Amino acid sequence: MSLVKMSQLLSDAKKGGYAVGSFSIANMEMVLGVIKALEETKSPAIIQIAEVRLKQSPLEIIGPLMVAAAKNASVPVAVHFDHGKTLEKITEALDIGFTSVMFDGSHLPFEENASVTCKVRELAKKYGADCEGEIGCVGGSEDGSENIAVNYTSPAMALEFYGSTKVDALAVAIGNAHGNYKQTPKLRFDILEETASLIPVPLVLHGGTGIEPDDFRKCISLGIHKINIATATFDSVERTVRQAYCSEKIGGYYDLQAAEVEGAYLNAMKHIEIFGCAGKA
Ligand code: 13P
Repeated sequence: MSLVKMSQLLSDAKKGGYAVGSFSIANMEMVLGVIKALEETKSPAIIQIAEVRLKQSPLEIIGPLMVAAAKNASVPVAVHFDHGKTLEKITEALDIGFTSVMFDGSHLPFEENASVTCKVRELAKKYGADCEGEIGCVGGSEDGSENIAVNYTSPAMALEFYGSTKVDALAVAIGNAHGNYKQTPKLRFDILEETASLIPVPLVLHGGTGIEPDDFRKCISLGIHKINIATATFDSVERTVRQAYCSEKIGGYYDLQAAEVEGAYLNAMKHIEIFGCAGKA
């Protein structure tokens, strides 16, 4: 039984100089694939789902599955509600037993973002859960439905935001964006370094898909301790299934299911190695 809080994983990661993967999942096969990789490498991690994805994976069904999988894992796993937009769904996630929630008010005016994030943090505390906020605006959107421009985090505003919200983790925008990058992103490490020097809690890097291994490592050395990976998981699952069909490895439904688990497993294994969290469970 090892459902844990995000803040516990992130404070260990900060002390140990590594990052914890926060893997988006959409179904049971992806959960099983990620947990298999975590158990095999003895890694802590976070599994998450974003509010925009609930139309495909309803929270009342996928949520209890995620919590049960974390409880049954032999390694510490936090269950996170990613890019929360409404108090209604954030509350539903907390009722189900998620151990952290994000409120994404990055597109809102500063005051409104800070005041709703404060409310969400207070709500999460009542459940003994953690809260992540975002300042600046990560590019793209979690489900690719919008092409939001990157609005770089201002370190001074990040400090003001942290001062008024006291979030447990803070997502920053340093040139990162959701989805597949059209060209290799040029991350603003100067912004990251300055922000990390001002904010005492771990920083979060969204848009992990397509960031180069060396850039990940540099981000970790400068204060990123939670890295969100979504598109890479979905792409790996789809690719693994397609390859299995092409090489005639799929003779029935359960071979298809096994290929889905394998796709999520391979992607988690790749990122665990880069993030330096293997053996830290
Ligand atoms: P990617 O889809 O680019 O990996 O982004 C994931 C993410 O940041 C989810 O919050």
